[in-house]
Amino acid sequence: EKGGYDHFMLKEIFEQPQTIFDSLRGRLDAKNGQLTLGGIRDEYADLLKNANRIIIVACGTSWHAGLIAEYMIEELCRTPVEVEYASEFRYRNPVVGKGDVIIAVSQSGETADTLVAIESAKQQGAIILGVCNVVGSSIARLSHAGAYTHAGPEIGVASTKAFTAQLVVLCLIGLKVAKEKGTITQQRFQHLLDELQDIPEKVATALKLNEAVKAVAAKYKDARDFLYLGRGYNFPVALEGALKLKEISYIHAEGYPAAEMKHGPIALVDENLPVVFVATRDSYYEKIVSNIQEIKARKGKVIAIVTEGDTTISELADDVIEVPAADELVAPVISTIPLQLLAYHIGVLKGYDVDKPRNLAKSVTVE
Ligand code: F6R
Repeated sequence: EKGGYDHFMLKEIFEQPQTIFDSLRGRLDAKNGQLTLGGIRDEYADLLKNANRIIIVACGTSWHAGLIAEYMIEELCRTPVEVEYASEFRYRNPVVGKGDVIIAVSQSGETADTLVAIESAKQQGAIILGVCNVVGSSIARLSHAGAYTHAGPEIGVASTKAFTAQLVVLCLIGLKVAKEKGTITQQRFQHLLDELQDIPEKVATALKLNEAVKAVAAKYKDARDFLYLGRGYNFPVALEGALKLKEISYIHAEGYPAAEMKHGPIALVDENLPVVFVATRDSYYEKIVSNIQEIKARKGKVIAIVTEGDTTISELADDVIEVPAADELVAPVISTIPLQLLAYHIGVLKGYDVDKPRNLAKSVTVE
């Protein structure tokens, strides 16, 4: 059942080239420049296109996918997006109503916090789109329309393949709206379709880093704390990397926007603190290089996820993990892979049951 892998988590990490392909199948036709989302059509496609505001509601890893989607959708569609923790959104009497489209993101489709949040927003007149993995789940059924992530059953408690599937599906939604709104050039649209098409292969390449990441894990497994930093599209990737490490290895880890570090967390940095930078080549690159220099100046240990062929960061960092180049909009799908592997290997090296971390349940059906 684990397909020859030691754990479901590792199996699911390695399934990602296939699961991402499945998320795109029947939807993306890059060759002919076409994109179809059968679950968001006609009336709902129009409501989404004309939305005053899109509110993404989710918890945990799914909330991180939502943060990346905020960056994607605002850039592509010029529609204002807010990302809310479901549990906070539900109870703070938010302003919501007609003209608002809520995207509920949930692997299980059963998360109580997310479910009750959308129930009340629906009563107030909002349109609900579900981005769920489990077909026929409560959130999927409550939604007016939506798109399944098609990642297949996720058994490991820590979410991995569901996250990358969410990113891909949310990107498809953003592209579809942008195309219909006319907020994207034909050239950029086609380029991003091609980039999406190439993702499964690039993820397969990133998975070849497994042994290299394991070596990094062995080197840092006894650290007490970790800091994860990224900017732009890679900022939520840093949050997700930190969450994975906390869940699986019980090491305290914090994710931060790299530039925020100087407003506080930099006080933590000394020779014992590993700092993971998600620093692939994008429009923030020069800025993140200076953030790495700031950490090195304080003797922090830098583990950097960089784009293949990077020489600048390679000279600064203590450990470097090179991933295939990709447009910054889809880069998180690839840069997250080594972070999943890092958490996995540290957890296993510390002797923990990575498929069933203590205190956690696969779907959290209590508020
Ligand atoms: C993290 C994790 C949790 C879930 C969260 C939401 O690895 O699994 O943070 O992401 O409980 O669950 P879903 O997506 O099922 O609503």
